[in-house]
Amino acid sequence: MTKHFLRDDDITQAQQNEILDLALALKAEPYSEKPLAGPQTVAVIFDKTSTRTRVSFAVGIADLGGVPLIMDSGTSQLGAKESIADTARVMERMVSAIVWRTFAQAGLEEMAAGTTVPVVNALSDEFHPCQLLADLMTIREHKGNLAGLTVAFVGDGSSNMSHSYLLACALAGMNVHVAAPAGYQPAPAIVRDAEKLAAEHGGSVLITEDAVAAVSGADVVVTDTWVSMGQEDQKAQRQKDFERYQVDAALMAHADKSAIFMHCLPAYRGYEVTADVIDGAQSVIWDEAENRLHAQKALLTWLLRQN
Ligand code: CP
Ligand code: NVA
Repeated sequence: MTKHFLRDDDITQAQQNEILDLALALKAEPYSEKPLAGPQTVAVIFDKTSTRTRVSFAVGIADLGGVPLIMDSGTSQLGAKESIADTARVMERMVSAIVWRTFAQAGLEEMAAGTTVPVVNALSDEFHPCQLLADLMTIREHKGNLAGLTVAFVGDGSSNMSHSYLLACALAGMNVHVAAPAGYQPAPAIVRDAEKLAAEHGGSVLITEDAVAAVSGADVVVTDTWVSMGQEDQKAQRQKDFERYQVDAALMAHADKSAIFMHCLPAYRGYEVTADVIDGAQSVIWDEAENRLHAQKALLTWLLRQN
């Protein structure tokens, strides 16, 4: 069975550690792994816009000895003109892996079920697991370890980032807190999965409407946009609904003194986070952005070894 990476809990804790160890090794020695020598091609498909994911996969695939084929849904047959299943069958004859940023998680599952090459979720409406590999790597760099740390996600609890934080951090044995207003809480099924992982790995899960309670004593404070891609028509309503969930200096003051601030970017200063926090001394956002490159190179190397 081909190994895919569609959601954060598609791997075990041991495999998560293996990928993070490899990511740190690749950061130290960027050209030490060449699993795509040939050069083999990896398709990277975007149904939504991207800067970091596009650049980090393109550079990472080249670093690994391969050729990135960057595709946009608007310029391929995928979607309106050709089914996911047929696309999957065609792609596997030519490329070594498929990386896809799309809307529905179900589309990724269909692509994975229909192809013999690994499929990687480069962000869906439900999850952003590549981002979490980079985020966990960044936390490790700044805090030395993961298990036992408390991470507080403040904002849209129903977003892909919140869901991935729940699964990836619970898998890592962390305590994961999500503070979100009513109506924007994480999907119950994902909370249940996270609680199960937390119980297995010594972590915990807290879902609350109280941002101060979530952030109190936290080692890592995270937020993300209030308006994810595809929700642009809800912008005005969301800006109102999330008003009390801005990460500002007053909220950061409730976290541990040495807490770090993270954001997957792009950020909207003055909305989900104030400029003094995101551009301040506790912010590690540029390391986090750089680590997308190293973490995804590690992921691709690891996936190609499994398959
Ligand atoms: N964080 C992230 O995925 O950024 P892009 O949307 O720019 O790829
Ligand atoms: N939650 C955001 C993340 C962007 C990287 C979105 O889906 O738009």
